[in-house]
Amino acid sequence: MSNLKNTLREKIEAWRPRTKMLLEEYGNTVIDKVTIGQAIGGMRGIKCLVTDISYLDPNEGIRYRGYTLPEVFKLLPKPKNAEMPYVEGLFYLLLTGEIPNEQEVLDLVDEFSKRRILPRYVYEVIDAWPCCSPPMAMFSSAILAMSRESFFAKKYKAGINKNEYWDPMYEDGLNMLAKLPEIATYIYAKLYREGKRIVGNPNLDVGANFAHMMGKAKPYDDVTRMHFIIHADHESGNVSAHTAHLVGSSLSDVYLATSAMINGLAGPLHGLANQEVLRWLQEVMERMGGEIPTEEELRQFVWDTLHSGQIVPGFGHAVLRKTDPRYMVQREFSLKYLADDPIFKYVDMLYRIVPQVLIEQNKAKNPWPNVDAQSGVIQWHYGVTEYDFYTVLFGIGRSIGIVANLIWDRALLYPLERPKSLTTDMLEEIAGIKEKNLTHELGDD
Ligand SMILES: CC(C)(COP(=O)(O)OP(=O)(O)OC[C@H]1O[C@@H](n2cnc3c(N)ncnc32)[C@H](O)[C@@H]1OP(=O)(O)O)[C@@H](O)C(=O)NCCC(=O)NCCS
Repeated sequence: MSNLKNTLREKIEAWRPRTKMLLEEYGNTVIDKVTIGQAIGGMRGIKCLVTDISYLDPNEGIRYRGYTLPEVFKLLPKPKNAEMPYVEGLFYLLLTGEIPNEQEVLDLVDEFSKRRILPRYVYEVIDAWPCCSPPMAMFSSAILAMSRESFFAKKYKAGINKNEYWDPMYEDGLNMLAKLPEIATYIYAKLYREGKRIVGNPNLDVGANFAHMMGKAKPYDDVTRMHFIIHADHESGNVSAHTAHLVGSSLSDVYLATSAMINGLAGPLHGLANQEVLRWLQEVMERMGGEIPTEEELRQFVWDTLHSGQIVPGFGHAVLRKTDPRYMVQREFSLKYLADDPIFKYVDMLYRIVPQVLIEQNKAKNPWPNVDAQSGVIQWHYGVTEYDFYTVLFGIGRSIGIVANLIWDRALLYPLERPKSLTTDMLEEIAGIKEKNLTHELGDD
């Protein structure tokens, strides 16, 4: 058994009594009340999910296992001649809560490398898509197809003890994570490089190998590491993480749950916003004939977008109430490497203008930029200009947190997720604006 798996087994055994005691002795303790506004309004802020992998503070931003992003980037081991840490090290941290040492990371680099080869049929599934298909749909289908490899599904069928559920989930999770860069770069080659694929190099870590398969020189390896690390997790309530948790709660395998989460990530209010930012910026540039606009011209463009009933992509957040630290990590990188890039100059100007406009409009609860406002611009700078592909990159990163969560969901035996719904009549009765209507009792599933 690998060192990581042994470490994880010890952690799980130590953690289980905590969950058990909370459930058995404090199960009726009230956390929060739910309002009608929350029930209709997308369940904003209802505290009804548990994860120890990350926590999103509205004013501070994300912490992975208690560490802020600057701490994560400082503490995780880095490859030689690299500015950004190993992606594999982040997975170790998310899974165990511990900062790995160099050897522990290298063991994991080796594990990922051994598990990265794709079954033949995955290429065939991707090849079966007609040209110009949406990359996220292709990505989701390739992951879904691999459900036939699931150890968890096989073990479940054979009658595994539920205390051991997490073990085949771990195997499935590592197998899938190791393959995602191969799948993504194959999709990229098929859609944008006339199928000319660059075969992976088993001697490289995830970040360097991804850069290699994309045909990109340094520092794209560091861009990749940074990108995958900052997108890995954002606690459990966001659409992608929540979808994976929900689907996984029916004991679906890692592939089924991850494919579903990719579908949620593909929406423009969530992960797709990173490519929407680029599309929107292109419109600005076109209108300006490629010239850098004045602040006044850009302000007008933002207002035009809002007046036409559209959102400004890359700004606002359902939980955060300040500038996203994931945006700041990328901004620091961009100030160092992209400062003279005209498209970065646009983004820099937006950073100063959009919040003022959104504050003036007085609708968005958070006028500040989120992770998506900056990530596409960095990809563009390094020659990945096919912005339809950007959400696939987000999807690889997010899968790291998804897998860590799914393994712990199984380890702590979190049950089937099944909240209760009400009818509008019932809400009106609760609000006291309508008499109780006894004909509207609900049946069960
Ligand atoms: C992220 C997002 C979906 C959060 O939604 P939310 O929790 O409902 O946000 P709020 O409570 O602040 O929304 C209140 C109002 O402000 C609007 N608003 C929020 N962010 C906005 C933005 N960037 N541009 C224009 N309007 C915005 C909402 O559409 C809503 O309008 P409505 O009352 O007419 O429906 C939203 O901010 C958004 O659409 N942002 C742009 C897309 C994006 O960048 N997504 C990636 C998030 S990481």
